[in-house]
Amino acid sequence: MKITRRKFIFACGGAALLSTGMGGSEYIGKILNLNQLAEKDKEFIFSDIRFIVVGDPHVSANIKGNEVNITDKGNKRLEQVVNFVNKSDVDFVVFIGDMANDGSRKSNELVKSILKNLDKKYYVVAGNHDIIVSNNIFEKYYGPMERIEYIKGYQLLFIGIYKETNEDRTVLKWSFDFNKADKDAPTLVFIHGPVTDLPIECLHCQIKNKEILEYAKGIRTELERFNNLIGVYSGHIHYDSDQIINGTRYVTVNGLNNFRFANYLKVVNFSDKVGYSAIKDGKSYFELVTYM
Ligand SMILES: [Fe+2]
Repeated sequence: MKITRRKFIFACGGAALLSTGMGGSEYIGKILNLNQLAEKDKEFIFSDIRFIVVGDPHVSANIKGNEVNITDKGNKRLEQVVNFVNKSDVDFVVFIGDMANDGSRKSNELVKSILKNLDKKYYVVAGNHDIIVSNNIFEKYYGPMERIEYIKGYQLLFIGIYKETNEDRTVLKWSFDFNKADKDAPTLVFIHGPVTDLPIECLHCQIKNKEILEYAKGIRTELERFNNLIGVYSGHIHYDSDQIINGTRYVTVNGLNNFRFANYLKVVNFSDKVGYSAIKDGKSYFELVTYM
């Protein structure tokens, strides 16, 4: 159903309502609990939000030899994305991780020099390449890797990543303190690794050592405790996938350094859950085409 009037708006903190108009003044200043709201009220509460999730850019300041074909695309496409986003009507952008291919300061400086031209709000999720040198480098450039933000009544969770060395091997782990999250708020989760099974159509995902791709799967148990989990967005596998499980949308986006890149996502309203449309390469490398 189309939202014709915006009855409610949220305070910046996302949990308290600032104003009301439909005899719902009992909600003012209270912590939102969706279960307390009548079904008819819900459709007025959630504003449309529009956001773009950008796949792994893998920008490199150290391009050499045959690496050019891979990383040069990431560098150029990040610039394209910035230009595209600046012209788009979106509330925010999420870079889903692997900003710098080698995790170095030099490559991150290059990323930041491109992102300084971005005039929309943006968030960066930490990926495995971002912590090659250290977690501190990521946080120096992009802020805390574990964070909760509120936009237009939606709770946004950004999940961290770290390496753990056990005896002779290093494994990737996700990190987040779920006690700090509101289990009832309409929630969008951004995490570098996919939390669902790897898509069977993804041929390059069929590697022997899959745990590096599946490091985030264990987080599903935590996510299942949320009452209004709208969408979970990931990168890492550089493959587009989109599925709905128990009413939650799970999306993986392709990497910027791959053939296709970036998905343009639009939350329509609560009852429709998450709308979805994609930006793909057009005929040429430098042309962007939007499909609705
Ligand atoms: Fe990646």
